Formats: sequence, C-alpha cells, structure tokens
Amino acid sequence: MASFKEIHFTPAEFAAIAKIDKSLVPELESSGRLTVTRKKVGNVDRKMISLEDMQAYFRNLRESANGIGAMSAGPQIPIEASDIESVAAATGFVPEAPSHKIQMFYNVKGGTGKSTLTAQYVMRAAMMGYRVLAIDLDGQGHLSVNLDVLDGHERPTIYDVLINDLPLQDAIMSVAPGLDLVPANLGLCNIEIPLNNKARREYRLGEAIKKIENQYDLIVADTNPAASILNGSMLVASNLVNVVCSTNPLSFHGMSLVMSTIDEMQREFQRDLTVKIIPNMYDNREVISQEVLGELRSQFADFCTKTVMNRAADMNEATKRRTTVWDVNPKGVAAQDVNSLTEELTST
Ligand SMILES: Nc1ncnc2c1ncn2[C@@H]1O[C@H](COP(=O)(O)OP(=O)(O)OP(=O)(O)O)[C@@H](O)[C@H]1O
Ligand SMILES: [Mg+2]
Repeated sequence: MASFKEIHFTPAEFAAIAKIDKSLVPELESSGRLTVTRKKVGNVDRKMISLEDMQAYFRNLRESANGIGAMSAGPQIPIEASDIESVAAATGFVPEAPSHKIQMFYNVKGGTGKSTLTAQYVMRAAMMGYRVLAIDLDGQGHLSVNLDVLDGHERPTIYDVLINDLPLQDAIMSVAPGLDLVPANLGLCNIEIPLNNKARREYRLGEAIKKIENQYDLIVADTNPAASILNGSMLVASNLVNVVCSTNPLSFHGMSLVMSTIDEMQREFQRDLTVKIIPNMYDNREVISQEVLGELRSQFADFCTKTVMNRAADMNEATKRRTTVWDVNPKGVAAQDVNSLTEELTST
C-alpha cells in the first residue's frame, strides 16, 4: 500500500491539479519547469510526476509570480516573471500563500468529519507546495492515523509542549515532503486538569505556535469533540475556524451552541476570527440532507462555504487506506470536493 509521501500523478492528473491543458505538460517538461519521471506501473513504463516534483512546480510558479525566483521561459508560454496574472493565464492557476495561516477544524459534536477533512485538506494543500503543519489535538489520534502515523503512542504530543514545556519544534515529525505533524495519543485525553492549573492556560498553545510559524505557510489543527480548554486554546491561536457540520438534523441542532461558544471565546479573548461552516456528508438523494443544507444556508448565510462535501465512499476508503482521496480515485467526487474546499479555505 503506497502512502501519501510515495504518491505519483499521471500527466493528466497533474494537469487537472495545475489547471492547465494536458498538452502543455511536455512543454513544461522541456522548458525545465516540471520534472517528469518514468515509473513502472504493472509491466508498463509510464510518465509520472512525484509529489515532490508537483510541489516544486507550484513553488517555482509562486516564486516567479512574486518576482523572486528565476523561471526559464518556454517558447510557447511567454511569462512576465513579475506578472502573476499572466503566469496564471498561461500555465493554470497560481495558489498564493493562504490568507489565513492558522486554522482549526472544530465542532463540539462528534463524528461530523473533522479529522477526515483535516487530513484531506492538509495533504491537498501540501500537494500545492505549501509548507504545512498539521496538529492533532484529539486523544483519539485520528488525524495522526489518517496521515498514516501509527506509532503516535511512542511520540511526544501537544501534552508535552503545554504541560512539560517541551519546545513545539521537538514534537514535530515529518509525514511527507512539505507536510509535518504534531501527533496525538491517548495520553492527551488527560490534559484538561493539568492545563487548567497552568497560568495563562489559553495562551500557551498560541505562544508555542508563534515560535515555529515562520517555517510554514499553513498550520491546521484537528480538535477533540468537546468544549475543552485545549480547543479553547486553539480558538485563541487561530485566524480561521472551520466548523464541520454534517447535513443531518442533530448536527444542525448543535450549530447554534457551536457558534455562540465561538462568539463567547472571541469576546473573552478579544479575537477577530473568521468562521466558516463546511456542510459535510451531503447526499442529494436524501430530502433530509437537502433540508438541512437549506437551513444552514439560510440561518448561517455569511458563514457557509460554497463547497459542499458530498457523502462519498472514496472518503471512507481514503481513511481506510490512510491516504489522500486523490490516491483512491482522482476523478471521483471526493477528490473534486477536497480540491474546491482546499482552494476555498486557502483563499478565504
Ligand atoms: N464526506 C464524507 N463521506 C463519507 N464518509 C465520510 C465523509 N466525511 C467523513 N466521513 C466518515 O465519517 C466518519 C467520521 O469521520 P471523522 O472521524 O472524521 O469525524 P470526527 O468529527 O473527526 O469525529 P470525532 O468527533 O470522533 O473526532 C469516518 O468514518 C469518516 O470516514
Ligand atoms: Mg476526529
């Protein structure tokens, strides 16, 4: 079973992610903007693009668009290095640095898809060449498992950082090129009492993140399903809160509580958070799904993401295989949803 770090893309898949016409891939290759390698798939040698080469493509594109790096000009893709729009027009889109660097996935209700969407989001963002740190703030360790880290019980967690003063840097592990993780394990379930006894308890996580934030373009936490002090600390540290709401009546019922909890935290800690609500597990064949989505959009109009995450077997399969939905089925609805969610949350 290939893990995310070993993932390779066909030229067509690369073209879909880079939003360029497939016929431009050989051009990018010959002008040195993209490295394509040959990989044995069954008995056939196929042209493939590795995760690292995809990331290098996006990083070069961004650097050129910002006028920092040099990009060799290909004959059929004339690009003014400092003109971001001509780069975008000629070679697809240029994902700029995420507008909200520190984000969290949140809901006090369990099972709405927080860990699944966090994992898919951070892997997809890493594919775009962003330097990403994922932080697992749930003792269940599901984000860690989703990112194929199965030895989380042997590793330091945010518990050691917040309670035993371990530098956050020492709790970070590499998951894949461009994707780091602070894993979690069951021991994290015991953090609430010692954290409650610490001075400036809600500020400790934000202060720890501050020390390492320059190493990353995007920092994303998955949280535990509770109104815990640990989650409160992440609310204080974040710029963007992504509330995952599954499109069922109970999940919708809990939304007013979630939104008022966020409001209270903002008032108490004088924060100005951007809040997004992500409708998840939507099934357009179910009337109840349609009704809940309609209610969400009318009651929380300013907050709902344009992207609706459909209920998709690929999402469960990706969880089972501990990889990205792109690895499971690049043409499936889950891969498309994760794409548009990632674009939306990085440009909100
Ligand atoms: N869009 C989706 N389509 C199909 N299955 C999904 C989707 N989103 C999540 N799931 C599945 O729903 C289940 C619960 O998801 P997940 O563990 O991510 O929820 P959670 O909110 O993190 O739960 P907890 O509150 O326990 O941390 C998982 O089996 C996951 O694979
Ligand atoms: Mg979870």
